[in-house]
Amino acid sequence: MLVLDGKIASAAVKATLLAQTQALKTAGKRTPHLAAILVGNNGASETYVASKVKNCEETGFESTLVRLDADIAENVLLEKIIEFNNNPLVDGILVQLPLPKHIDEAKVIETINPSKDVDGFHPANVGRLVQGLPTFIPATPYGILLMLEHFNIPTKGKNAVVIGRSNIVGRPMSILLSSNIPQGNCTVTLCHSHTTHLKSICAQADIIVAALGAPNFVTGDMVKPGAVIIDVGITRVEDPTSKKGFRIKGDVNYEEASVNASAITPVPGGVGLMTIAGLLKNTMKAYEAAHLS
Ligand code: GUN
Repeated sequence: MLVLDGKIASAAVKATLLAQTQALKTAGKRTPHLAAILVGNNGASETYVASKVKNCEETGFESTLVRLDADIAENVLLEKIIEFNNNPLVDGILVQLPLPKHIDEAKVIETINPSKDVDGFHPANVGRLVQGLPTFIPATPYGILLMLEHFNIPTKGKNAVVIGRSNIVGRPMSILLSSNIPQGNCTVTLCHSHTTHLKSICAQADIIVAALGAPNFVTGDMVKPGAVIIDVGITRVEDPTSKKGFRIKGDVNYEEASVNASAITPVPGGVGLMTIAGLLKNTMKAYEAAHLS
């Protein structure tokens, strides 16, 4: 069984990006610049944003992190986004989700200039993804495609089951896997909370992408011999024996699933690292597009 190691696959992507930023610096040019906005102090969001900023540094990107209080007025956030939209030295803008309840997430996403929307969440970019046009692929699905590419996992003609229909992962992943792209051309079933016979649907899958946020949801009996298992789950579960007081759990029961699987992503150390690789690649794309136009 092959462990789809995110450390290995993301290191390969980041090495290419680092070579690109070094070449830019040698040529006396500025490097791609990601601006991240974090509202409030959700523990998981803090960790993710800190990791995104650290990875920018490691690959020679510029980054700016703006922190806003949880009770900030919506228009203050929108104004910050507009400021970044208008700043030619910012290539990519990211607003970490989820946002506090009083802020309209859709309005925030629609305020980001689509050409700087490196999360690929803007409706214009989602529309382009659906139509197979060049766009920013949301970072987690993009990271999964990069993972499949790195480990040469064949997808053409396979039965893929995606569990979870979020705008961030499940929905775009289902569209990409069904698209006519190198890591696509699957027959896709998108399962969600109202799906009946979910277990038997999964048991027929050649590829399972679990993105529902329920620890150990995918059990051994749902994994067909030879299936490829992509675990997107990153739920924090209490663990008094750990220093932080919690552990990260995936959506897949790794021990059970590994019995039948031909390949599986670990948690942590799998898809999470690829999400950052996808985000960095999108930021480089935004930079390149801005410098070609
Ligand atoms: N929250 C969870 N995943 C993501 C992501 O990929 N981008 C942003 N902006 N927020 C998230």
